[in-house]
Amino acid sequence: MVDLGYGASPVTTLESLEYLRVLNPSLRLIGVEIDPDRVREALPYAQLGLEFCLGGFNLPLGADESAGVIRAMNVLRQYPEQEYARSLALLGSYLGPAGILLEGTSDPPGNMMALNLYLRGGGFLLHDGLALIANLRRPFSPRQLQAILPKNYIHHLEPGSPLDAFFGAWSACWQRAIQTQVHDPRRLFAEAARWLHEEHGYHLSARPGFLRRGILLLHSVPGEAQAPLALARMR
Ligand SMILES: C[S@@+](CC[C@H](N)C(=O)[O-])C[C@H]1O[C@@H](n2cnc3c(N)ncnc32)[C@H](O)[C@@H]1O
Repeated sequence: MVDLGYGASPVTTLESLEYLRVLNPSLRLIGVEIDPDRVREALPYAQLGLEFCLGGFNLPLGADESAGVIRAMNVLRQYPEQEYARSLALLGSYLGPAGILLEGTSDPPGNMMALNLYLRGGGFLLHDGLALIANLRRPFSPRQLQAILPKNYIHHLEPGSPLDAFFGAWSACWQRAIQTQVHDPRRLFAEAARWLHEEHGYHLSARPGFLRRGILLLHSVPGEAQAPLALARMR
């Protein structure tokens, strides 16, 4: 796994190691940063299976290495939208077969997240969904998530656009849910998601484990379909 652009301190990298090692004790994780000072400051945290390296979208992997998972949180949003597809295509070229790229954005404390899921399929990177993630321990309303959409969506929210209509429909379902006698926000979230699917036709995951955690996984995102991206550098 690669954690690209881990930031001023490698907290997310260390947390990922802790969580994912439970699933895969032999996980190898590489934190990659473009800022040399941030690499230097992270080095004391290196340990068996955890490295920190200087690099950018051109990942510092060996010629025979590939990543099963690449996470790039709050990185691509710093770049112009025109560079988005090119950067993804380059990152995707480092994925192994069926590898996953998680690219997204959060609010500064990490309470809300919006995450693009991309899968490698042959020589292409395929958009597999957008996860909109709420913290249900805090007051929630769907439109809060608009402010943290990833780069490929944030500039496409003009009133009347398909994305704006989606958030309008989700807000209406949420308002209806909170007027019921149910008070558990996890049940409200699941109920609003069910209406969003059944009454508005949005294609989303009904997995109870996702909905309970405040994760709305949209399989097809309103607006223009994202075409498969040809990987920039075949490995
Ligand atoms: C806003 S911080 C995000 C930190 C962390 N991922 C998080 O979500 O809290 C963005 C980081 O990405 C790094 N960065 C920007 N462009 C990069 C690139 N092309 N490759 C690697 N790191 C990059 C910056 O140096 C910065 O540390």
